[in-house]
Amino acid sequence: MTHLLDDETINPFEIAQKAADQIRKLSGVGTHHIALTLGSGWAKAADLIGETVSEIPATEVIGFSKPALAGHVGSIRSIKLPNGKFALVIGARTHFYENHGVRAVVHSVRTAAKAGAKVMVLTNGAGGIKPKWAGGAAVLISDHINLTASSPLEGANFIDLTDLYSARLRAIAKTVDSSLDEGVYVQFRGPHYETPAEVQMAKIMGGDIVGMSTALEAIAARESGMEILGMSLITNLAAGIQKTPLSHAEVIEAGQQAEARISKLLAEIVDKI
Ligand code: HPA
Repeated sequence: MTHLLDDETINPFEIAQKAADQIRKLSGVGTHHIALTLGSGWAKAADLIGETVSEIPATEVIGFSKPALAGHVGSIRSIKLPNGKFALVIGARTHFYENHGVRAVVHSVRTAAKAGAKVMVLTNGAGGIKPKWAGGAAVLISDHINLTASSPLEGANFIDLTDLYSARLRAIAKTVDSSLDEGVYVQFRGPHYETPAEVQMAKIMGGDIVGMSTALEAIAARESGMEILGMSLITNLAAGIQKTPLSHAEVIEAGQQAEARISKLLAEIVDKI
């Protein structure tokens, strides 16, 4: 399927600017200070971090496509935080495996930057390589390994990715819950889950978490100058670590079970940022 942003003659940053202008107009919020992408299991955080002042169906905003997945909310919310600042909550993630191109994957992040956000919070549901994370651990992403063989950067655009996942923001998260673990996120293309051999490869490479989002978004967020907080909900142990087959139903169920707990955690973290 073709996507607006697939057109090489289109400048993706201009489309992001247009999207941000539309969001400003529709929401009445001039500047969003922080943006959050809420993945599987994290959606309820939107209700806890503050007062929703506007909710826009993502499909009304240029460059956003319908989410491919049930369980992913397709809306863009403006939320007034207790500290008076505004958060932009993006419930419409485009995954790389949807084949809309990498520009579409990172459009929400670029839009958030154009809407004024200096901090990008990226959350996801993912598989855990460490057995101790069974049962729905929330893990801070400390770094990533990008196995998509793609990049949102175009041309000779050499962006530094040292401390991509802000040590400052991870430290803030730990003031809310000192027991939070950290891990290296490995993005695979998907949509198939990994084979047990691929999970072992990821482990040997230094990975702790396997998933199908976030790394490409983080690169684009860094390019746009934002500070990044990444968090994974471990919805299952990765293939082969867990002895039973993986299923999307299991991932959704684990997300639902963890939702209240991790949403409260995320709301408390956002309050401190
Ligand atoms: N692998 C990749 N993506 C995932 C997983 C997994 O095990 N669980 C949830 N999303």
